Amino acid sequence: MKIAFFSTQLYDKEYFSRYNTSHELVFFEAQLNEQTVTLADSCTAVCAFVNDVLNAAVIKLLAGLGVKIVAMRCAGYNNVDLPAAQFHNIKVVRVPAYSPYAVAEHAVALILTLNRKTHKAYNRVREGNFSLEKLTGFDLNGKTVGVIGTGKIGQVFCHIMQGFGCRVLAFDLIANKELEARGIEFLPLTRLLPQCDIISLHCPLTDQTRHIINSDTFGLMKPGLMLINTSRGGLIDTRAAIHALKTGHLRYLGIDVYEQEEKLFFHNLSEEIIEDDDIMRLMSFPNVLITSHQGFFTDEALTQIAQITLQNINDFEAGMPLVNKIV
Ligand code: NAI
Repeated sequence: MKIAFFSTQLYDKEYFSRYNTSHELVFFEAQLNEQTVTLADSCTAVCAFVNDVLNAAVIKLLAGLGVKIVAMRCAGYNNVDLPAAQFHNIKVVRVPAYSPYAVAEHAVALILTLNRKTHKAYNRVREGNFSLEKLTGFDLNGKTVGVIGTGKIGQVFCHIMQGFGCRVLAFDLIANKELEARGIEFLPLTRLLPQCDIISLHCPLTDQTRHIINSDTFGLMKPGLMLINTSRGGLIDTRAAIHALKTGHLRYLGIDVYEQEEKLFFHNLSEEIIEDDDIMRLMSFPNVLITSHQGFFTDEALTQIAQITLQNINDFEAGMPLVNKIV
């Protein structure tokens, strides 16, 4: 089968080529959108990523080109118009779980870096500055951590934070019995937020969760908290976060995802003028740490992503049940 890959980087080519045995793979650096969709001409499958545009218009154009399956090489699918795919009889598959450890551990990396300021210490020492001034952190042991979304990633994150000696509280639509048995308390959001020193987001982006962190919910949080988002940028109202940082209510912000990341992340823009004033404002705070959607980026996760995506397409080609089908 001929597969068009969009938004590809060198590592996509490397991992997919390593595990492909039977398909013709065509790699495009371009993001999938209405302008680039014709690149999929003569392909039966499209392989897309988190910031590709799969709205109704693009899906219709893909159907017109003869595309039968969209294989998302990621877990989230908030960028896919599922009713449109269903209408045009295009199957959509994904990689529901590759390495929950990769993302959970990245969330912990953000916490540790923001807290102990190792990124600043690294630069200082390299310049011969051995001063500790302004590098004060806090013990994680005994702190209260709130976890919003306790699915595969949230669950691993809960385990890790318990290992640090934290008290872990959780909010999810469904309480996780295994976590409850480990002493994690599930609470309504309004009761969880005021108690937490650290809040980490691990729920998907849906109509219900869009801007789940906004000026009202910031108002419920403890002054001085740390907020971590490795899930999807749209969970946080960025302007509200900037305001909370300016007042000092939000003392630390660590994000691997950003509301308007589509035009920024995964690209080297170091010689460009960045027009997004919100990210520039966020970058100006000394207590904000931004990584560009690298939570998934481990060898184990890239291997799983390539293997599962190719298996999804193999199953489709063989007329087998699609275990990772979204629609
Ligand atoms: P999952 O589907 O296993 O878990 C999601 C959890 O969120 C479920 O327990 C679900 O009940 C809960 N949830 C859904 N709606 C909710 C709501 N309104 N309020 C509270 N909880 C709600 O997903 P998984 O694998 O744990 O991934 C979580 C998210 O992490 C993904 O949706 C994706 O956006 C993000 N992600 C980020 C990556 C990165 O590189 N930074 C990589 C992979 C995933």
